[in-house]
Amino acid sequence: MTSSLATVSYIGATILFILSLGGLSNPETARRGNLFGIIGMTVAVLATVLGPRVSSVGISWIVAALVVGGVVGLFAAKKVQMTQMPELVALMHSLVGLAACLVGFASYVDTSTVFPTPAEKAIHEVEIYVGILIGAVTFSGSLIAFGKLSGKIGGKPLLLPARHLLNLAGLLVVIWFGREFLRAHDIQAGMTPLIVMTAIALLFGVHMVMAIGGADMPVVVSMLNSYSGWAAAATGFMLGNDLLIVVGALVGSSGAILSYIMCRAMNRNFISVIAGGFGGGAPAAKAAGSGVAQPQGEVVPVSAHETAELLRDAKNVIIVPGYGMAVAQAQHTVNDITKVLRQKGVTVRFGIHPVAGRMPGHMNVLLAEAKVPYDIVLEMDEINEDFPDTDVAIVIGANDIVNPSAQDDPASPIAGMPVLEVWKARTSIVMKRSMASGYAGVDNPLFYKDNNRMLFGDAKKMLDEVLTVLEA
Ligand code: TAP
Repeated sequence: MTSSLATVSYIGATILFILSLGGLSNPETARRGNLFGIIGMTVAVLATVLGPRVSSVGISWIVAALVVGGVVGLFAAKKVQMTQMPELVALMHSLVGLAACLVGFASYVDTSTVFPTPAEKAIHEVEIYVGILIGAVTFSGSLIAFGKLSGKIGGKPLLLPARHLLNLAGLLVVIWFGREFLRAHDIQAGMTPLIVMTAIALLFGVHMVMAIGGADMPVVVSMLNSYSGWAAAATGFMLGNDLLIVVGALVGSSGAILSYIMCRAMNRNFISVIAGGFGGGAPAAKAAGSGVAQPQGEVVPVSAHETAELLRDAKNVIIVPGYGMAVAQAQHTVNDITKVLRQKGVTVRFGIHPVAGRMPGHMNVLLAEAKVPYDIVLEMDEINEDFPDTDVAIVIGANDIVNPSAQDDPASPIAGMPVLEVWKARTSIVMKRSMASGYAGVDNPLFYKDNNRMLFGDAKKMLDEVLTVLEA
């Protein structure tokens, strides 16, 4: 492939990636967006592999790597459960970080490039230094995020004494070694500062994510997503590959915007999330002596039969799905119930919290998979005011996102997080298996409210029973 054809292909791939991001912003166009992304990536890979910079020997290495990587990727994608997606995503971010580090070291030891001026050589070395720095932080931070999300590492934030000072000292040392790196006369002399900086960056990544509590992990995952984009952009600079720079910048900036949106959804300040220390620990430890009000009152259980009758007698129903619906894989039954109720003239809508489930858009994906019509699936802000005019709000495997203590209890760990106000409906029904807390480990006073009913059991099993009664 000639160099101009490769450039044209890169421009085409860039346009497809932009169209892909545009498509992914809406459930109705998400499939198309995905398709654009797949075509864009195929064009990009082909243009790179067949492009002028890869020799015929190189092609066989690349094809071998593609086969190995493709098989591992296919196997992982087939095996992973929907609820394990955030862990998989964190692991993938770590690979982007690792790639940036490896490309950085390879570019540094590669003596084949001749720089016309010392300034250009210095710019290239800055790109290498910064690229490895971002890559190493992304690599180790993402591995720790994977450990925390998969429960292999506890969710409690690790708060070292004087941790901010430690970070600052690390930054100053990295800058100093950067100066040493640029002043080095040969590769051997430059290698020491480069390796020391990489070690510090790896430790920084570990420290940064270890200091963040479990409840803030969604923001951290999207923040690492953004870092992986910047790591890819840095790799693009090192390799002089415009497409990587553009795509990396797209991922980096969209990840940053997503982190901001999620911070707003959880009423968290972005800087304080990064500074760490929030949202970890066991629920009991949090509640005991922490000033958090313990919910009081009685819990009123209902049967699937009573639930079906409440739904049948209602005019307006709002369904609030959460992580438990994903665990139970109850989305198809939810859709069947929606269809039956709508046939009976009941208005059914869905209220989606921005951080419901375990990844952005988790609930939208599940409901789309079950073919729930898009026009009845509304965002929290669009539906929250409608609960007082709602007969039944049914909460399926959700907990934190419907917790009134976020509004009422300033001492609650989730204080200030916007929540779906299901308790304002005439009757709310919460479906879950027990009185256990949700992801944030906080008790939920909703369960004890006079107008609330609890339908205990696996969401899929209970909804199947509700459907049977509704269809009878
Ligand atoms: P959670 O607060 O985690 O509550 C889910 C509830 O589902 C649990 O209390 C659990 O209670 C119930 N459940 C589990 N399996 C079930 C099953 N088979 N059948 C019925 N119920 C079941 O979920 P949420 O309300 O969706 O809130 C999401 C939380 O995750 C937030 O704290 C959010 O910050 C966090 N988070 C979000 C993300 C993203 S990006 N969305 C990523 C990571 C973390 P039982 O055990 O009693 O059944």
